Amino acid sequence: MDIKWMFLFLADNEKAKLIEKEKHIRGRVTWDVYWIYFKHFGSSILVSIFICLVCVIIFNALFNFWLSVWTSSSDGGGGVSILQYVTEAFLTYGCCHSACKLHDKMIYNLIRAPLRYETFPKASKYESKQFQPAAYYVVRKCDAHNLCSLKSGVYFRVVVFLCVVFLTNVVISPPLILFFIVYIIIYCGVYVYFIDASRIRACLLFYPWLLKLYTVFPVPGRTAETKPRFFIILFRQEEKDAYFKFLDKVDNYLLVTKFTIVTIQWVVLNLLLLSCASFLVIAFLAVLGSYRFQLSPSLVGLAIASALEMSSIISSSVISFAHLESSMTSVERVKTYIDVKTENQNGCKPPKDWPSKGNVLVENVTIKYAEHLDPVLKDVSFEILGGQKIGVCGRTGSGKSTLTMSLLRLLIQTKGRITIDGIDIETVPLQTLRSRISVVPQEPILFNGTIRENIDFDGRLADADIWDILEKVQLKDKIARLHTGLDSFISAGGSNFSLGEKQLLCLARTIVRGSTIIVLDEPTAFIDTNTSYQLQRFMKDVFHDKTVITVAHRVTTILNSDMIMVLQDGHIVEYDSPTNLLLKEGSIFASFVRESSETSTTDGV
Ligand SMILES: Nc1ncnc2c1ncn2[C@@H]1O[C@H](COP(=O)(O)OP(=O)(O)O)[C@@H](O)[C@H]1O
Ligand SMILES: [Mg+2]
Repeated sequence: MDIKWMFLFLADNEKAKLIEKEKHIRGRVTWDVYWIYFKHFGSSILVSIFICLVCVIIFNALFNFWLSVWTSSSDGGGGVSILQYVTEAFLTYGCCHSACKLHDKMIYNLIRAPLRYETFPKASKYESKQFQPAAYYVVRKCDAHNLCSLKSGVYFRVVVFLCVVFLTNVVISPPLILFFIVYIIIYCGVYVYFIDASRIRACLLFYPWLLKLYTVFPVPGRTAETKPRFFIILFRQEEKDAYFKFLDKVDNYLLVTKFTIVTIQWVVLNLLLLSCASFLVIAFLAVLGSYRFQLSPSLVGLAIASALEMSSIISSSVISFAHLESSMTSVERVKTYIDVKTENQNGCKPPKDWPSKGNVLVENVTIKYAEHLDPVLKDVSFEILGGQKIGVCGRTGSGKSTLTMSLLRLLIQTKGRITIDGIDIETVPLQTLRSRISVVPQEPILFNGTIRENIDFDGRLADADIWDILEKVQLKDKIARLHTGLDSFISAGGSNFSLGEKQLLCLARTIVRGSTIIVLDEPTAFIDTNTSYQLQRFMKDVFHDKTVITVAHRVTTILNSDMIMVLQDGHIVEYDSPTNLLLKEGSIFASFVRESSETSTTDGV
């Protein structure tokens, strides 16, 4: 079961779907996968390996021949062994080199993949919980460890070595040629038959990204799913159900393991039987040859020794080649990541202080999440003057977050132009653009590391300044209570902080960066009203000369803005000062304000 994952982009008739399908491809690993792996060895290493292999083979053949002439000799063995070690060293180096190169390329591409690609796994039928460990495994293990284990590229030496043994035997006893042909055909048959099963074995025991995905990951996945729902399960008295569902997953895994072990034993037994039978035939033919062609006993001895060696080499190479091909599935997986189309990074470097004023001009912009999806922002135009404070509101799904993301070129812009201080953002290198605009996203993101590293990436600020900012964002007390203060560690995704606290930390980070344009996507959605009110006052003060675009959860928080933008179904339906909008008859913004005064927490606005 060799299954390769690839991403199948939707056909036109599937336009309505948000979710892209994964495609499983069966069959052999193609040659381009081998090529990409060995190409990254580097030409000098490849040439060195080739020369060493040829020398090993020639020395080996000469040594065997010399043995048959003068059996007591042991000279020459040392030379062959040293050469073999040198070959191994080159192979190991080449494998590590190739693994590192492929790994780096993969990481480079994944980091630069478009947003659509990043969100894809979550939308896939494999839940992110299952996908993430797989991806993690591919990155951490398959690329480095598994690829290195391919130093069993010794298999290639096996092929050449087989040819030498074959020729030696055929020269000594020509009838052997018929036998060898039959013999190799049988082994090829066993190999082809075994290869499918071996892929399962290899995937499960050594290269587990595939079968583990199906059978192993669901086990911890089930636990991870159950843990947060623990009280619901107790409340609904579904403990037994949860228990048996978990056992089902364990059973699946054990079933595959059992099947795997049985398969290996079956193959080993068959290969052994085949070896014994072939050795018997070779011995018989060699003895027959010695009578017919009057061969010397030492040559017959050499033929039998070589045949014995050959049958054991062929047996082990059947497993080895299967092993190699299974290993190559991880290269193939890596290749799919390397082939991912990245975002265009190039452009003309803008001046160092760009954007100095913070003017934003959006002209007839249409934005999509993917080529096959309908636009979310439709023909949107507006202008923000430097230093203005803009409040954006609208019903859930109206396109507020999409608007903020489009300023960072995170989505596909099919029409129009966005210029910041007179420079079209399409012409600015992506890295520069994203480093010059600060965003506090709707879902706040914290990185593994200390609080200090999360707030002040570049280590520009003194501790006192960081504490000052933390005090302003109302986090000083909480962080001061932690044992190690600013050096306290933030766990993966910031799980040791509440959503509101994460938003506050992101806000602190934004203040430290000091960008001219700041985008706040519902920055106080998870913060209590009192803290939110204090933050408003603080932000007004600290961002007084910056252009601030605030997507509002509570419309009351944007009442003090210079301009209010109301979005509806991807269109700007109102864009004016709050006073004008409140006075305007039938104003949507005014209705939002009325709604929010009726209920203190108006969802979706
Ligand atoms: N990752 C995504 N992939 C495809 N479409 C999306 C994605 N995120 C949002 N959308 C579409 O964009 C619309 C606007 O989303 P968004 O800008 O997040 O709305 P909001 O105004 O609530 O911030 C949604 O209704 C949805 O149809
Ligand atoms: Mg939103």
